[in-house]
Amino acid sequence: MHMDIDNKLPVHVGFIMDGNGRWAKKRAMPRTFGHKAGAETLRTVIDECRKIGIRYVTCYAFSTENWKRPKEEVTVLMRLFDEYLDEAAARFDKSRMIFIGDKSRFPEGLRDKMLRLEKDTASIDDFTIMLAMNYGGRDEIVRAARALAAKAASGEIDTEDIDEDIFARELYTYPAPDCDFIIRTSGEERLSNFLMWQSAYSEFYFTDTLWPDFGKEELHKALDEYMRRKRRFGGV
Ligand code: FPP
Repeated sequence: MHMDIDNKLPVHVGFIMDGNGRWAKKRAMPRTFGHKAGAETLRTVIDECRKIGIRYVTCYAFSTENWKRPKEEVTVLMRLFDEYLDEAAARFDKSRMIFIGDKSRFPEGLRDKMLRLEKDTASIDDFTIMLAMNYGGRDEIVRAARALAAKAASGEIDTEDIDEDIFARELYTYPAPDCDFIIRTSGEERLSNFLMWQSAYSEFYFTDTLWPDFGKEELHKALDEYMRRKRRFGGV
């Protein structure tokens, strides 16, 4: 690990990979061209995070709302996910892979690959990649509430015992720690239903750079800024 960044590095970084469509449009190319370039950026950024010692990376790949996009765009995204999963499987000893979100809506082949990768990488604990796929922060919270209500109804838990820790255990991301730092590209400054619970104390970083143009240099710039911030978690 780098001497100067040592223990102040964020443990868990989230990426809202925005701007693929605009990047392609600027080049008079179809939006899907931007997604392909975006997938390359994802590889570069994840490799760099692993190299410098970040432990958890969560990437917003597909939201519960993204199904509304044109069919051909959704198809290309599914193909890019599929390729990425095959690659991850080919080097599955490197990173733990977790897919957060509702897998049930994906094509069966893709869903099977997700489940297999999660299983095959389950014992790796130095670096975890969480891909948010058909993910929504509110949906995640509603599911947790529903799971706890069922446990209370069956007598497995007491309603009085439900606290933040018990609630967090029902989230897709359990047992990963909360997100320390959320980076969003392309100039939009909002959370868009990403990690709602886990971002309660996150630091945010926004850049006008479009996701396909984001790279190692920008990542380090963002991390440098994170390390200069003072986090108080509600204290003084
Ligand atoms: C946002 O850009 C990006 C997405 C909705 C998809 C993210 C997907 C990738 C980075 C590519 C592949 C991912 C994996 C996991 C291999 P946008 O299309 O909303 O851009 P715009 O706001 O400029 O239209």
